[in-house]
This record gives sequence, structure tokens and C-alpha cells, in this order.
Amino acid sequence: MIGTGVGVWIASELAWPVLNFDNPYLSFGRLRPVHTNVVIFAFGGSTLMASAYYIVQRTCHTALWSDKLAWFTFWGWNLVIIGAIITLPMGYTQSKEYAEMEWPLDILITAVWLAYTYNFIMTLAIRKVSHIYVANWFFLAMMIMITYLHVVNSLVIPVEMWKSYSIFAGVQDAMIQWWWGHNAVGFFLTAGFLGIMYYFVPKQANRPVYSYRLSVIHYWALIFGYVWLGAHHLQYTALPDWTGSLGAAISLAMIIPSWGGAINGMFTLSGAWDKLRTDYILRFLIVSLAFYAMSTFEGPVMSAKTVNALSHYTDWTIGHVHAGALGWVAMVSIGAIYHMVEKLWDTKLYSTRLVNVHFWMATLGTAIYITAMWVSGIMQGLMWRAYDDYGNLAYTFVESVAQMHPYYAMRAIGGLIFFSGACLMLWNVSVTIYLATKTTAREAANQASAA
Ligand code: HEM
Ligand code: HEM
Repeated sequence: MIGTGVGVWIASELAWPVLNFDNPYLSFGRLRPVHTNVVIFAFGGSTLMASAYYIVQRTCHTALWSDKLAWFTFWGWNLVIIGAIITLPMGYTQSKEYAEMEWPLDILITAVWLAYTYNFIMTLAIRKVSHIYVANWFFLAMMIMITYLHVVNSLVIPVEMWKSYSIFAGVQDAMIQWWWGHNAVGFFLTAGFLGIMYYFVPKQANRPVYSYRLSVIHYWALIFGYVWLGAHHLQYTALPDWTGSLGAAISLAMIIPSWGGAINGMFTLSGAWDKLRTDYILRFLIVSLAFYAMSTFEGPVMSAKTVNALSHYTDWTIGHVHAGALGWVAMVSIGAIYHMVEKLWDTKLYSTRLVNVHFWMATLGTAIYITAMWVSGIMQGLMWRAYDDYGNLAYTFVESVAQMHPYYAMRAIGGLIFFSGACLMLWNVSVTIYLATKTTAREAANQASAA
């Protein structure tokens, strides 16, 4: 709720700049990283930690190796998030996208992440079954790669408590930043969530995954491909041209593993599509796969240099980001959270009707958001490159900004609908847990008095 709430606020600031209130702490520039860090690390990261700990225990038929270490990850991660929410609006930033937090918080992230990884690996080591289910492979790849990427990209020389300078400079700095940036997408926002998908889709559908062999091919192709893509964020910059071409070529090839995974998830429902009519949690999971397929088709198209010449710096990128972030990451997380709440408290959700309402609000909100951004993004790109007969630019920049207003208002409305759905979810989940806890307490009291 906080991440999407701040998202709605900054989206509204872009539509109605008066909302900045001439206050630096509320300005778009300072709140934007609060939004990205909260949705990616607080919402995405917490979902990844909860679900990895949940899945590894169930698929390995064993309890976690260390509960204490799991609590350390919980409190440590929350401390990181509180640190981000305080320091970013104050203007303390490394100015690297998705790696804005200053060095003390980076060190805390490393410690917590290593504890999480170690606990996960040790739980795999003490498993009671010989096989390691594919969802765990995806989590493991995420954990190893994020450690390596985060540490290298965050190498800095600290000069004060909240100020540091990167050890990289110029083109190398840009390349390292986007090697991290794209892999934050590839491993944090994709590989981990594929782990979630491979466990929860078959569980919720009550069917085995469509093809286990395909999931293994999907895994290796994805892991091998993602690390080469970063340069597609830096087309037409000071980077050597061939690096951009390599990034574009491998990006195009990534359609294959991405669609392999999406199809594998969707086909798990083969012969049981009717379940979608009644199972609202499954709807979240399956629609997330449709958005995953859509955004992983759009991404490779945007990597092509000719398309990127139009799309780069425009809202088209923002539309693509949210097709992935809202449609894929948030939807699959929501499905997983609803599923886990039912299982962990051994109960049914307080209201399945509310889950259905939430489903439609999330889908509608996402559709409005991304459609608005496609229109505004393509319009921006076309306006910026339009020339008159004398070779002068046809439009000033500010004219293009004025044209964006209706689409920015539309995005804020789409976001508000999505955010309201999140509020419903919090209410539904809280009441479910409250009622389940009360029933358990009553049963325990009855048993005690009967004894
Ligand atoms: C109510 C829902 C949301 C709204 C209204 C919203 C709004 C926004 C806005 C206005 C921006 C800044 C765009 C710009 O700089 O022009 C942004 C950026 C971003 N948002 Fe969201 N957001 C929402 C949900 C999410 C979620 C759930 C995620 C991730 C799981 C997410 C991830 C991001 C990322 C990664 C960026 C940076 C994009 C880039 O730099 O290209 N957002 N969002
Ligand atoms: C095969 C898969 C994908 C490819 C090849 C791809 C490609 C791209 C390209 C070319 C850009 C624009 C770069 C630019 O002009 O600056 C981009 C931006 C972005 N994509 Fe993707 N994408 C893929 C999947 C996804 C998914 C599934 C998500 C979300 C979960 C996602 C999140 C993002 C984000 C956050 C950015 C904005 C980065 C920034 O500028 O801040 N992408 N992607």
C-alpha cells in the first residue's frame, strides 16, 4: 500500500505539479526513489523472502535450517527499508538507479541478503528428499546473482557517513550500473518471481506443472541470457556500438526462454481451464503470466536500436516497466500471498468476493496505466523527432510536456484503482488472520476445558 500509494502521489505530481507544495521533501525527484525502492525492495523483496522460506520447507520436507537467521532477515530487511524511507527524501543518494541507498545501508543489505541465502542453502542441504524442485533453482540463481551484482555495483569510496563516490567512472560506471540495473529486473524481479510461479501455479491449480523438462530448459536459458542484456539501456551513448548490438541480439533471443516459461505456467491449466471461473486466486496467477509474456515480448522489441531511438527517454519505457511490475510482479505476488495466508492459517479467506473485486481493480488499474503510457510515450518520441521543412524542430520540449497532461491524469487514475485494490487486500487478509487466530484460540480453550 505504501509503495503504490507513493506511486499514485508522484503520478499525480506529474499531472498537477502544484502537489509538490514547494517542499523539497515532497518533490517528485526525492519521492520517486522512495516509490521504486519501496515497491521493489519492500514489497517485492519481502514477498521473495517469505515465499522462498515457505517453498523451500515444503518442497524439501524439512523445517528451516535456522529460525533465528530467518528472524534476522526479517528485522534486518525492514531496517533497510526504514533506512531508505528516511534517507532518500533527505537527499542522501548514490544516484544510481535501483541502487540509490548510501553505503551504510548497502552493507546492511549485503549482510541480510547473505543470511537469507545461507539459510536457504542450508535448508536445501538438510532436505529429506533427494530431488531439488525447480522453484528452488530459480531462487538460488537470484540469491547468488544479486549478491554478486549488488556488491560490485555498490563498490564506493565513502567520504562521510552518508556520502560516497563510486570506484567506477564514465563509461565503465554506466556499464556497471546497467549490468546491475537489468539484472535487478532479470534476477530480482523475474527469476525469483518465476520461482514463485513454478510453485504456486501448480499448487493452486492442484495439477503438476505442464512440462518439468521445459522448466529446466527455461531455467538454464534464462540464467545464461540475462547477464548479457544491460547494454540495451545504453543505446546511442558513449558505449562502444557493438555492446549495444550484443545487448539487442541477446534481448531478442530472450523471447524464447521467457515465453517457454509463460507457456509452461499457463499450460499447467490444460484441461482444467474451468477452474478460472471460480478460483479467483488462480486468476491472479494466470493473468500475471499473460502480462509476463506481454512485457517480455515488448522488452526485446524495445531493445532493437531503431525502436529504442524512439522509445528511450519516453513514457513508453515507463509503460513497459509497469506492464512487468504491476501486471507480472505484483499480480503473481498477490496470488502467492492469498494462497499462503489460506495455508498458513489453515482457513479460507474472509471474503472471496473481495478477492474477485481486487482482481478486477488490479487488472483494470494496470490496463489503464500502461495504455496511457503507450500513447503518451509514442507521442513524446514522435514530437521530439519531428522536423519542419527547414530542418528545425517542429515542437519545443514544453509543448510535448503540455500534451502529456491528459495521459498523466489517466495514469494517476489507473494507479488509484490499483492502490484501492491493495487496500481491499490488506483488509481482507487482516480480517482472515484475525478470525482464524480467534477460532484457533477458542478451539484450544475448548480442548483444555474438555481435558
Ligand atoms: C499504483 C501503482 C503505481 C503507480 C501509480 C506508479 C507510478 C509510478 C510513477 C509516476 C513513476 C515515475 C515515472 C517517471 O519517472 O516518469 C514510477 C516509476 C517506477 N515504478 Fe511505479 N507505480 C506503481 C506501481 C509500481 C509497482 C508495483 C512497481 C514494482 C513492482 C513499480 C516499479 C516502478 C519502477 C521500477 C519505476 C522506475 C521506472 C524507470 O525508471 O524507467 N511501480 N512509477
Ligand atoms: C526478455 C525480457 C525483457 C527485455 C529484453 C527487456 C528490455 C527492456 C528495454 C529495451 C528497456 C528500455 C531501455 C531504455 O531504453 O532505457 C527496458 C526497460 C525496463 N524494463 Fe524491461 N525488458 C524485459 C522484461 C522486463 C520485465 C519482465 C520487467 C519487470 C518485471 C522489466 C522491467 C524494466 C524496467 C524496470 C525498465 C526501466 C529501467 C530504467 O530505465 O530505469 N523488463 N527493458
